[in-house]
Amino acid sequence: MAVEHDVLDAGLAEDGKRRIEWADRQMPVLARIRERFEKEKPLEGLKVAACLHVTTETANLMRTLAAGGADVALCASNPLSTQDTTAAGLVHEYGIPTFAIRGIDQEGYYRHLGAVLDRHPQVTMDDGCDLVTLLHQKRKDQLPEVIGGTEETTTGIIRLHAMEDQGVLGYPIVGVNDADTKHLFDNRYGTGQSTLDGIIRATNVLIAGKTFVVYGYGMCGRGVASRARGMGADVVVVEVDPTRALEAAMDGLRVMTGRDAASQGDIFVTVTGNKHVIRGEHFELMKDGAILANAGHFDIEIDLKALKGMAGEVREVRPEVNAYSLGAERTIYVLSDGRLVNLAAAEGHPASVMDMSFADQALSLEWLKNNIESLEKRVYKVPTEIDKEVARLKLETMGVRVDELTDEQKAYMAAWEEGT
Ligand code: ADE
Repeated sequence: MAVEHDVLDAGLAEDGKRRIEWADRQMPVLARIRERFEKEKPLEGLKVAACLHVTTETANLMRTLAAGGADVALCASNPLSTQDTTAAGLVHEYGIPTFAIRGIDQEGYYRHLGAVLDRHPQVTMDDGCDLVTLLHQKRKDQLPEVIGGTEETTTGIIRLHAMEDQGVLGYPIVGVNDADTKHLFDNRYGTGQSTLDGIIRATNVLIAGKTFVVYGYGMCGRGVASRARGMGADVVVVEVDPTRALEAAMDGLRVMTGRDAASQGDIFVTVTGNKHVIRGEHFELMKDGAILANAGHFDIEIDLKALKGMAGEVREVRPEVNAYSLGAERTIYVLSDGRLVNLAAAEGHPASVMDMSFADQALSLEWLKNNIESLEKRVYKVPTEIDKEVARLKLETMGVRVDELTDEQKAYMAAWEEGT
């Protein structure tokens, strides 16, 4: 039977397969889960609609779910992150229904979300909550068919908690981002490396010696700041949370307000998850040649509408780099239209960290299916056993051994009598 799809070009499929296999070499934990899934078929017959960045790493997750017996279809969770080679490979080499074309407009983006929902999924696997929102707003009639879901990212989980609080969440969802083996690694090392990678691929600027401003000091911000610092930048952090700001200061970084940072920075990166973090009052103060990028989930962190309103002219000066002229004296450069620079201008997080995030996804889906009878319409954490198992497997595949407690130490940890 023909595989349903909407991808750019079937001719890219072979290249896509080679790239997917390359990523697979760095995803040994997921490969082990795939081997087990192939034998045990724990997801047999489960209809899954996935809305994720269409990358080689995601392709390996889709292969794993299909190996477990799931009937899976994929659409993109961001119009600029799709790798057309991967999308073609998924359809024409692996037979997985895929709806994703890089650079597609808003209407096409939602048409693709609609296409995976047209298949009447029992499970959603989302990154950013757009699929879940569409289902709850425009496809309410399908809600009773859905037994559960998973969510990949911080931004999505925030939206899900808002739905839970308002009592509108239609089914249980596992927030994969909250697993330690997800956010401590993917958010920090993945966003850290891939954001610098995106900025460098887009601009080829030297990071050493630049004043590099990071907005937000959560796990992603910490990763970006530490990588920029490692490359020789003078890193400034802008935060609203006092504890996080204190942490940045004690990590040896300069902490200041958005207005103070605006006049000092050479490169600006937003990773807050909030909107209009860099706005008109900041553009006014920026130096000629300032470079702006976003690595947060949505393209709302830099107020591009305001910048367009202030600019005489906007022109593309290199792929992924738009120049905004502010009078005769100053030009500000925005990367990837303020969309996730690590996925739009580079290839997203390296496979080695996505290995853990997607192992969490695959095992959470299995857990959801096995426990569905007892779950309520709530946001669930990834069970600790899964989190620890993913860490254990990752260490094993890295050839790293952990120590064990002696019986005496176990007894000491369980006792209260022994003191000074
Ligand atoms: N999110 C960030 N990096 C990613 C990647 N490489 N694949 C899928 N989702 C991602």
